[in-house]
Amino acid sequence: MTHTPAPYGHPLLRVPTPEGWVLEACVRRDVLLIDHANCEKKAASTALALMFAYAEDLELAGKMSRLAREELRHYEQVAELIRNLGVTPQRLAPGRYAERLRRPVAKAEPQRQVDLMICGAFIEARSCERFAALGEAIGAPVGELFQGLHKAEARHYRVYLDLARRAAERAGVALEARIEEFAALEAELITAPDAVFRFHSGPP
Ligand SMILES: [Fe+2]
Ligand SMILES: [Fe+2]
Repeated sequence: MTHTPAPYGHPLLRVPTPEGWVLEACVRRDVLLIDHANCEKKAASTALALMFAYAEDLELAGKMSRLAREELRHYEQVAELIRNLGVTPQRLAPGRYAERLRRPVAKAEPQRQVDLMICGAFIEARSCERFAALGEAIGAPVGELFQGLHKAEARHYRVYLDLARRAAERAGVALEARIEEFAALEAELITAPDAVFRFHSGPP
């Protein structure tokens, strides 16, 4: 990658998770876990949707199939922890993050595939960064699970980034400039005050 690295050293993300969000996550652990379980289900279902959307692309299908299986295993790990901790399951509406991040996604191909892969990379990279930020702060046993998931999410964002690069090369469109656009939007969603606490929300 040749784009400008973040000031704090992340290859994709422009801003670290605000301290205020980390403090809220430690206090609102139950909501965090329930929303996290939803994120894992959504990650699996997004991967499956991409297999249908790009059915002619066997390389993408193979990577997304493995990803979906891994995300469902993550779901099972979080669900087990939710049960063991006696957290009451509840239906939670999603936060603003993924919906807002996907708003600029092109409607038409071939740009659409590039954009979808970039969005996937950002969502995985932010999850990875949040697992690292929470791993120590939130304490065992949640912290232990998060530290274990951290490595997988780092791998996932590289899978999406590689697919974004491949799609951009095939389409003959600029990748770096597009990444910068999504990076700016992503940074705004992570730093702007957020009324709804979720796994990918902004600070309270
Ligand atoms: Fe995951
Ligand atoms: Fe993931």
